[in-house]
Amino acid sequence: MGAKKYLTIVMLMGICMQFLCACEKKQTDIPQKVQVGVAFYNQSDIFLNELIGCLKEQLGTFENDSFEVTMMVRDAAGSQRTQEDQVEELLTMGCNVLCVNLVDRADPSEIIDLARDNDVPIIFFNREPVAKDMQQWDKLYYVGADAKQSGVLQGEMAADLIKENHRIDRNNDGKIQYVVLEGESGHQDTIIRTESAVDTIKNSGIELEKLECGIANWDRAQAQNRMQQMIGQYPNQIELVLANNDAMALGAIDAYEKLNYTESAFPVFFGIDGTKVGLEAVMNSKLSGTVYNDKEGQAAAMAKLAVALVTGKGMDSLVFENEKYIYLSYFKITDDNISRFIQDEDF
Ligand code: BGC
Ligand code: CA
Repeated sequence: MGAKKYLTIVMLMGICMQFLCACEKKQTDIPQKVQVGVAFYNQSDIFLNELIGCLKEQLGTFENDSFEVTMMVRDAAGSQRTQEDQVEELLTMGCNVLCVNLVDRADPSEIIDLARDNDVPIIFFNREPVAKDMQQWDKLYYVGADAKQSGVLQGEMAADLIKENHRIDRNNDGKIQYVVLEGESGHQDTIIRTESAVDTIKNSGIELEKLECGIANWDRAQAQNRMQQMIGQYPNQIELVLANNDAMALGAIDAYEKLNYTESAFPVFFGIDGTKVGLEAVMNSKLSGTVYNDKEGQAAAMAKLAVALVTGKGMDSLVFENEKYIYLSYFKITDDNISRFIQDEDF
């Protein structure tokens, strides 16, 4: 072999080696940047604002000198169309994982297609897509909580209090006259929370009489309005108010205050969430109880999952149901344990 030919072969081998090394490096390369795009249905929602605050905090715990985590948040202000545009924008900006709180939980296809085209996984949260849609792609996940459990716990708290305090049955007819304030009609938490709370109270042996059920879309001001109408319709007859969330329970209390009812003439109120103001109301005994919607736990699971999906590391530390779902437990908060939570929160 001539010296020239020998040199050419050596050079070619060198180039091949370099190429092989580059390929191998690329395969094992872990992205050092997690860019999380968060799209949520409405900025006016108190619980979601608190949840997203927790998510920011949780993602921050993964950051260090050699690992960058960014979070970009978009508010759809209640429009599914806007949310689709925002998801497209987040993908264009380079997000490599999405956290989506759907405006319309029954209509995620457009968003799933966008994410799939860019091979960016989606963690849906709080507003659960229907099971069939979750099967559209294998990179779809959901983090939330079990609606039925929240209703059961709310019902148990109400039943305990009614049995303990006979004055709740104001007109002494052996029945509890109640009203319900409900969230958005298509939301997984609305129907299930109402049904399971009412069933739990009835199954404990208490006789209930439903006066009215009003939709107030999770919103304090709407709940106040709806409650004022109900008070007008049933003056002094309402003994129990079950609200699908704290914001609406507080709106109901606002209505009684606005109408200058004295506190001794108030019915008892129960909420769900344990938002900052909800916990304060339990502490001041305005709210008889709430069910804690574990936003810290949900945010921690979302942050872990987001990082694991991008880096490929840490998936085994997460507990899934049906391979795609992470549900955090609810728990009761009443007079008995509120002081523990108030200490944890920053009051
Ligand atoms: C919360 C509500 C919130 C709703 C928004 C529910 O799980 O309890 O407070 O408004 O989610 O999707
Ligand atoms: Ca009664």
